[in-house]
Amino acid sequence: MNIVVVANYDSMSAEVAKLLYAQITRKPTSVLGLATGSTPLGVYKLLVEYHARGTDFSRLTTFNLDEYVGLAPDHPQSYNYYMKENLFSKVNLKPENTHVPNGLAPDLEAECQRYEELIKKAGGIDLQILGIGTNGHIGFNEPGTDFGAITHVVDLAESTIRDNSRFFASIDEVPTRAISMGIKTIMQAKEIILMASGGSKADAVYAAVHGPVTPDVPASVLQLHPSVTLVVDQAAASKL
Ligand code: GLP
Repeated sequence: MNIVVVANYDSMSAEVAKLLYAQITRKPTSVLGLATGSTPLGVYKLLVEYHARGTDFSRLTTFNLDEYVGLAPDHPQSYNYYMKENLFSKVNLKPENTHVPNGLAPDLEAECQRYEELIKKAGGIDLQILGIGTNGHIGFNEPGTDFGAITHVVDLAESTIRDNSRFFASIDEVPTRAISMGIKTIMQAKEIILMASGGSKADAVYAAVHGPVTPDVPASVLQLHPSVTLVVDQAAASKL
């Protein structure tokens, strides 16, 4: 694992945006795996700036990691909405080339299968970006998730519901289930960038990098991937 420690959130965002820019320039038809949460917001802001200065997104394809079950795409806390607000509506990605699981699908299992097949049809993910949950989750793969899982429906951990309740009016409004790419789906990406910022992520980052490779810490599986770059600020790297 290639580890890049930077000073703070802004430098983490700049570093990851630069790596994405390099990927887009090297291969304008790249398939990118995208993440949500507060961590990648700075990256998306910078990508929008790259686009304003001429970077073309029109030949890219994107797949998001996950979506809450039960939230409509126009629900302000859905990941569909988040992506539209923060990236899709601000760059020239073609809407038909952007993919986020449908949390309202009547048949969730079929939706998971459809999503997994779409990724395969697109030729797989060239570069996947990931945040990390305080419990070590990636996407919405909570501790205990089988490393062999592909896109699936997950029950969110108590700690994730608590962590994510800050985005909702009350904890009762946080969905309890989600659709998430599985660990296997994520591990099939050719390259992965894991990013983390802030002291609240320090334990999870330590366990991901130096702990045993175990489903108890889903991000620890990344130790087995041949091409992972961890971009982490000093606070999140404080226990490394
Ligand atoms: C969410 C998302 C993850 C994200 C993580 C951390 O639950 N499903 O993809 O990496 O939690 O979120 P944040 O970046 O807001 O700390």
